[in-house]
Amino acid sequence: MTATRPEGLLACIEDDLAKVEECLLAETRSDIGEVRAISGHTLLSGGKRLRPAIALLAARCVGRTFDTHRAYTAAAAVELIHMATLMHDDVVDEAPERRGKPTANAIYGNSITILTGDFLLAKSIWLLSRDEENLALVRLFADVTIAMAEGEVLQAAVARNWNLNLATYEQVIERKTARFLAGCTEAGGLMGGGTEQETAALRAYGHHLGIAFQIADDLLDFLGDPKQTGKELGTDLRDGRVTLPLIHTLAHCDATTKTELLAILERGQALTDSEVADITATIARHGGFAVARTEANARMTRALTELERFPESPYRDALTTLAKYVVARDR
Ligand code: IPE
Ligand code: IPE
Ligand code: MG
Ligand code: MG
Repeated sequence: MTATRPEGLLACIEDDLAKVEECLLAETRSDIGEVRAISGHTLLSGGKRLRPAIALLAARCVGRTFDTHRAYTAAAAVELIHMATLMHDDVVDEAPERRGKPTANAIYGNSITILTGDFLLAKSIWLLSRDEENLALVRLFADVTIAMAEGEVLQAAVARNWNLNLATYEQVIERKTARFLAGCTEAGGLMGGGTEQETAALRAYGHHLGIAFQIADDLLDFLGDPKQTGKELGTDLRDGRVTLPLIHTLAHCDATTKTELLAILERGQALTDSEVADITATIARHGGFAVARTEANARMTRALTELERFPESPYRDALTTLAKYVVARDR
């Protein structure tokens, strides 16, 4: 089952998010036209703003008064990091489309896209460093970015390793995605004046949400509607990325099916849409998607457990709804 984002999900932080948007527009300015154009292209192409949203919801969920300006800066910084890493990821993945539009690399080429990604990463640090109190945040986001780079490198290093084990897959998604979401909610806890325990619970929520989010993303690569996801189907298969549904299938199918599957998988970029559909059907027959969905739901449930210590509020409700949406989303 898939779902579009529930209406009004982020209504309780609408004003906060508007401030973050203002900050993002200001921080992506440059007197170099191409930098402005590519940053603007990515900024305004319809991202979900999931990371700033969970950072702000986490801050508000704590229930104390806090310096909102500082929280907006942190929320803008996480979206700048996200934009930068998407640009780099689309170069690495040779992705032609994102959010239903041509990627920056498709329009402007790899060199300029990579460099603009570097510009945005540096901007995020620069933005945070304007306040000397932000050292902990700079360190946190540096940690996140280091982990993401490691996760992406590990993923590239094990590409086309069809016997990939579950532990390595988990390590990849933990580093490339979950650490970032955990960093966002931890930052929210820090900004919102949370105690050590509260901030740790928010971090754990973000971590489980991140694992669930990436498993759902990997499912969409097989089962999504490109009109909704804005990304081509079968990109992971063509790039040799082995994700949970395929790991399960290769581990459980009979020898003949395995030999057939491996022969098609080896075709890589040459895989046709109908071959992608055949692989998808084989995975479905072996329950690979069901296993992935069950794991994503289990992670979502663990994320929700972490919220129990916080007082009832629209912010806690939004974090709850968001976790449910992340595993059922269609984009
Ligand atoms: C895409 O993240 C990158 C992954 C970690 C899978 P999102 O799906 O949050 O991207 P946008 O910003 O909404 O397009
Ligand atoms: C997530 O990886 C992107 C980053 C962590 C930077 P993917 O390559 O799986 O994400 P999509 O599917 O391109 O959004
Ligand atoms: Mg990608
Ligand atoms: Mg990638």
